[in-house]
Amino acid sequence: MTLPVFETPRLTLRSISAHDAEGLHEAYGDTDAMRHWDLPPSRDVPQTAERIRMSAEADPRWHGMWAIQTQAGRFVGAINYHAHNEQQRRLALGWIVVPSCWRQGLMTEVAPPVISHCFTRLNVHRIEARIEPENLSSRRLAAKLGFTEEGTLRDWLCVAGEFRSVALRRGRVPQRRDVQPAARGVDDAARGAAPSERRHLHVLSVRRPAPLP
Ligand SMILES: CC(C)(COP(=O)(O)OP(=O)(O)OC[C@H]1O[C@@H](n2cnc3c(N)ncnc32)[C@H](O)[C@@H]1OP(=O)(O)O)[C@@H](O)C(=O)NCCC(=O)NCCS
Repeated sequence: MTLPVFETPRLTLRSISAHDAEGLHEAYGDTDAMRHWDLPPSRDVPQTAERIRMSAEADPRWHGMWAIQTQAGRFVGAINYHAHNEQQRRLALGWIVVPSCWRQGLMTEVAPPVISHCFTRLNVHRIEARIEPENLSSRRLAAKLGFTEEGTLRDWLCVAGEFRSVALRRGRVPQRRDVQPAARGVDDAARGAAPSERRHLHVLSVRRPAPLP
């Protein structure tokens, strides 16, 4: 499946492809950028290319990855959803920017349309970001995007034989009127919950978000 293309003032998001291997390797091959990623750094460009291939071949219901590029076509990062559970209507986000472009507001700019896509087109109710406590930049980014901290998943990651804990963060939830009634009805039936009970649970769990750009 090809992911939708998003345009932001400075950037374009599109499905990642084999052509992005050298660009992504600026991040995947960098020890600092990969310090808190759920994979060790790539050894070389071919290994990054192999990781892109696995990503592109993953079931799009479970995983999707966008390349982020400037208007001039330079690869500057990637953002993905993973662990998408359609029945439970939740997924997790992962984000990475090439180190030479850190702290220029790039991820702040591209994450909102992806978050909006997840809530509307993928119809999830819950978006998670699983971030190691030491990963200050990612924690601050998540806070800026409206994520709230929910707790710690101990030894959640095992990277190169080492276990790591992550803090679980939850993205903001759209207002009730943003969720299509038909989708809610299908979900009610699928979960076997009485619609009124499901609606009640839904209302209890939403928080009023700032409007997405
Ligand atoms: C996390 C990451 C994607 C942020 O991307 P970015 O484009 O640099 O982020 P932004 O410039 O949009 O910054 C958003 C906010 O994050 C915080 N932040 C970003 N980089 C920071 C840094 N080096 N130090 C402290 N805070 C930082 C700031 O609060 C910033 O907002 P501000 O500039 O208004 O203060 C990037 O640092 C990265 O690729 N890290 C390595 C990969 C990674 O760890 N991914 C997450 C795995 S869970």
